[in-house]
Formats: sequence, structure tokens, C-alpha cells
Amino acid sequence: MKNLLEIQDLTVRFHTEDGTVNAVNHVDLRLEDGMTLGVVGETGAGKTTLAKSIMRIIPHPPGKIEGGKIIYGDRDLLEMDDTEIRSVRGKEISMIFQDPMSALNPVIPVGEQIAEVISIHENLDKKQAYERACAMLEMVGIPAFRAHEYPHQFSGGMKQRVVIAIALACSPRILIADEPTTALDVTIQAQVLEMMRDLKEKFGTSILMITHDLGVVAQMCQKVAIMYAGEIVESGTVYDIFDRTAHPYTEGLLGAIPKVHLQERRLRPIDGLMPDPMELPAGCAFCERCKYAQERCSAEHPPMVLLEGEHYVRCFRAEQGREEDKA
Ligand SMILES: Nc1ncnc2c1ncn2[C@@H]1O[C@H](COP(=O)(O)OP(=O)(O)O)[C@@H](O)[C@H]1O
Ligand SMILES: [Mg+2]
Repeated sequence: MKNLLEIQDLTVRFHTEDGTVNAVNHVDLRLEDGMTLGVVGETGAGKTTLAKSIMRIIPHPPGKIEGGKIIYGDRDLLEMDDTEIRSVRGKEISMIFQDPMSALNPVIPVGEQIAEVISIHENLDKKQAYERACAMLEMVGIPAFRAHEYPHQFSGGMKQRVVIAIALACSPRILIADEPTTALDVTIQAQVLEMMRDLKEKFGTSILMITHDLGVVAQMCQKVAIMYAGEIVESGTVYDIFDRTAHPYTEGLLGAIPKVHLQERRLRPIDGLMPDPMELPAGCAFCERCKYAQERCSAEHPPMVLLEGEHYVRCFRAEQGREEDKA
């Protein structure tokens, strides 16, 4: 399948008064055309920084993209000037955030806000843009007559639908959704996810779905990348990640999904904390929390190894397994 977006060796740091935050470390990631790729990891793993790098909205200072490429089509997004990136943002690639209010203007009716984005990128007159905005509202399940209402007149789930309507208004090739349903309650969450799935089919949008929840991945994604302390530690198809789990961290994340059918509703988060991104260890970043850790793990940094097909893992155990296979 053709790559729509290819991130190569991306490194992003924040230079603060307290020290340097290694937020994203040598990340490689590919989003294929028509796919939904899940990027999963706990708070502080670097997911939002990764997403903002693609949009080129990392606050600078303190943030800086220190290395790598983000190839879209035949261009490196990181090489584009401000005018070029503005024509990509919102039109080719758009992003939605966890908190819908951060994307909405409280004093402008929602229909006008959607129309405004359409007018920036499309050659339409005011009336046409507004009509298209109303059609977008209908598309996300909000009746067009509500176009003149203000954001505060909508519930949380409805506000996120408006944000999705804005993001999809110019039919972008790529939608980056940064924990789009985390702030919503579970029923509404399911509705919004289902709507995103439908829209993806309708528009052929490829989605980069950022979440800390493997349950969301199971519902939405074909491919998955697991992120830990600014690195990808495992990636592959949904099948690879769920049924052929290779990284101990992924194993831990899977253990934290409530298994309703087993009457086991309490989450079992992984003991311990992610290392401080200002002081990353020399060895494996997960070593301290890993029940399989050996001496080598704290001394050497494990490289990414290919297991099979497109299933990659950053763990010495996988290497051992392969050597045993050979023996
Ligand atoms: N503007 C900023 N200034 C300093 N540090 C930041 C800034 N934004 C993010 N970070 C740090 O970068 C790391 C990754 O954060 P983030 O990308 O938001 O992770 P995630 O989205 O996975 O929770 C964290 O340690 C966070 O504190
Ligand atoms: Mg985040």
C-alpha cells in the first residue's frame, strides 16, 4: 500500500529552564493511504508532540524539531516555508484535539466557523461556503438549523462533532485525531468514534488516531504504533499487536483493558512510572518496569527489530526468541 505520510528519524526536544525534554526520539512512522493508524502510549509519551510536528505547530521556543523528515507526497513538510505549510494545514492535513473548546471560538456561531475554514481554502463565495458548512453539520449528525447557534449551546459530544466538521470541511487527505474522545463519556465516545469511521469511509480520509486506550484502537485502527518515552517500541497490524504481542509494555497495556466478559472491571495499570524525558536512561526506557528485564537491558539501548511481515519490536527478548528459533 502507498505511503501517504512517512516520518523518518524524527527528534523533537523542548529546551526549558529546568533542562532538555527529549519528547520525541528518532521516530519512524508510516501512514498508508486509506488506513487508520493508532499511536498509543501513556501521558507524556510524546504523542501530541509528534502530531504537532506534522502540523508544524510546535511552540518555538522552547520546542525544536532537531532532526528527521516528514515526507508528504514528494515534499518534506519540515522544509516548507510558512506560506506552503499554511496551504497544507487544514486543507491537506487537519488535526483535532482532546478539548473541543480549544478549537472553537465561543463568540461565533458554529456554522460561520465552519464556513470560515472553507473560505480560506476553497474558491467559494460566502453563501456557498455557508451552505457547505451546513451540509458538513448534517454529515456529523447535527441538524443544519443549529448552524446559527454558539458553541456553548452544544453538549461536549456535539461540540466535538462540530470540531470534526471543521476538520473535514475541506476534505483533507489526513486527519490527525489527538485523543478526540478522551474528554467525552463512554456512550458519547462510542457514537463519535462510529461517526468518524463512517466519515472515513465516505471521504477516504486516512487517520492518525492518537489515544492512550487500546480499546479505541481495536475499534478504529488497522495499524498500530506503541509509543513509550518518546520512542516507538512496537508497531504492526492490529493483529500483530493484539494477538502476537511482543513488547512487555504492550503486554502491560493489554492487561489494562477491562475484560467485561471476565467480569474483571478493575484496570490493572502497569506498576511504576515512565522515565523522566529530561533524564532518559542509557538502556531500554521500559527496563525499570519490565518483569523480564535482564542486565543487558539497563546497559544497552535495544534497536528496533523486524519480527515478521511489518511487525517491529524494540526489545532484546525478541532477538533472543529469534536466536532460539534458529538453534
Ligand atoms: N511546551 C512544552 N514545553 C516543555 N515541555 C513540553 C511542552 N510540551 C510538551 N512537553 C513535554 O514533552 C513530553 C511529551 O509530551 P506530549 O507530547 O504532550 O505527550 P503525550 O501527548 O503523549 O501526553 C512531556 O514530558 C511534556 O511535559
Ligand atoms: Mg497528548
